[in-house]
Amino acid sequence: MKTSIVSLLVVGLTCLIGSLVIMQCESPKKAKRSQEDESGSPNAWNLSITENANDMLEKGRAVFRFETFNDEAFWTDKLQLHRAIADEKAGGIGKGLTPKAALDAGLKVDLDVLPNFMREQIKEGKLLDDTDATLALIKLSAVVGVVGNFEDNKLKSIGLTCAVCHSTVDSETGIGKRLDGWPNQDLNVGAIISMAPDLRVFTESLNVDEATLKKVLASWGPGKFDAELNLDGKAMRPDGKPAATLIPEAFGHAGHSQHTWTGGWGPVTYWNAYVANLEMAGQGNFYDPRLMDATQYPLAAKAGLGNKRNTDDKITDKLAALQFYQLAIPAPKPPNGSFNDEAAGRGQILFNEKAQCATCHVPPLFTEPGYNAHKPEEIGIDDFQANRSPDKTYVTQGLKGLWIRKRGFYHDGRFPTLLDVVNHYNNFKNLNLSDNEKGDLVEYLKSL
Ligand code: HEC
Ligand code: HEC
Repeated sequence: MKTSIVSLLVVGLTCLIGSLVIMQCESPKKAKRSQEDESGSPNAWNLSITENANDMLEKGRAVFRFETFNDEAFWTDKLQLHRAIADEKAGGIGKGLTPKAALDAGLKVDLDVLPNFMREQIKEGKLLDDTDATLALIKLSAVVGVVGNFEDNKLKSIGLTCAVCHSTVDSETGIGKRLDGWPNQDLNVGAIISMAPDLRVFTESLNVDEATLKKVLASWGPGKFDAELNLDGKAMRPDGKPAATLIPEAFGHAGHSQHTWTGGWGPVTYWNAYVANLEMAGQGNFYDPRLMDATQYPLAAKAGLGNKRNTDDKITDKLAALQFYQLAIPAPKPPNGSFNDEAAGRGQILFNEKAQCATCHVPPLFTEPGYNAHKPEEIGIDDFQANRSPDKTYVTQGLKGLWIRKRGFYHDGRFPTLLDVVNHYNNFKNLNLSDNEKGDLVEYLKSL
């Protein structure tokens, strides 16, 4: 310990002196690395793996939080969303969006990046009715997932990043510290799209009038989005309920084969490419011949979404780091005291034995190692959403971190509580669970 501090000091001093005489100076780690590199030793190789991991993590984090992939071409040039955010004097068309209205639509403010004076004012609830404050927040990159470009204090363009849906902050006020990977369960995507002055890109591709489009967008509600509407145009389920699904957790996915609600799409990186290209309308290349099937995906086939080519690709070179970062996000542990320990212990035994949950939710991944999806009839629910996916299946969800949920369970939030989920399995599979046993299972689920 002592020697290493001393050697660090020596290296530091040498660096200082070196830099005084304008010599190239390297950190002790790097210096060691290049020596070993020359010899091509396994140590150097191991070190390069660790360095690569750290590098990918940092790059991926930046992409996840701040990268728009040039989707401004969609949100700004086509939808003109920026003109609903700025007021007339700042280049918009109306009164503009106040911070309060933005928070009401579920957008989140990252306190950490604000200068002190603004942090205090925002915390005290000041500035919330001031449209200029919205622009200032966007300029500071404080509106999670929203990227603005300004010219002479006019908002020139707006773009969205993955974080707008897949991150939130640690406070119910919507103003707090950023939490990557936690779904924004308050975000009203439909309401935000509805604010856009020009909705033709949607009405034309979906072949509906504006009133119908707005009705669909309003049907989603907070925390939900329909990521397949652009493919099949199915806005409503046969029972008349909206086709939107919950915005899912982007944490706790490492080790899972499939991550989406429905099966056959592909792993995280497939879906990343899908969303960046086809949902956020970023600029890139995307290939999936299955989307050319005009029977299952009429809109996608017509628009050629299964083979999207852009020479100026802003997406492909970011996919590796983005995937790496997403898989690095762990599921958050439940707070102390948020579940009953003893009951959870009994619930664990039930989960693995009598209730047969572990046959699909295999601990500790809580999904199947291998092919992790099931036909709707295996879990006793309707096939509407499954049929919109390539495999017509539902993916076994990982169950960790479910304690953060506030919009229900299963892909569309159809079961408001965990007890409702347990009741569903109990009836469907004739498990004969007593009320106490059901309660124990719920405590176990809350402990994951
Ligand atoms: C408008 C909200 C929204 C935005 C923006 C968004 N997603 Fe998603 N994301 C969703 C929804 C909804 C699903 C569930 C889709 C499904 O399974 O059918 C999802 C699912 C996913 C999944 C698979 C499941 C999971 O929990 O991780 C990944 C991976 C993902 N998104 C990555 C991204 C990336 C990367 C971006 C940015 C390029 C992004 N998303 C932007 C709403 C969004
Ligand atoms: C046949 C395989 C299978 C069995 C057995 C099974 N599940 Fe599931 N489980 C699934 C699938 C598939 C989903 C996803 C359903 C959806 O998204 O609509 C799921 C979803 C869930 C969810 C909701 C997850 C979320 O993200 O909203 C919970 C909670 C859950 N299961 C708990 C259990 C419990 C408790 C048992 C035992 C009583 C059990 N499961 C038995 C396959 C199974």
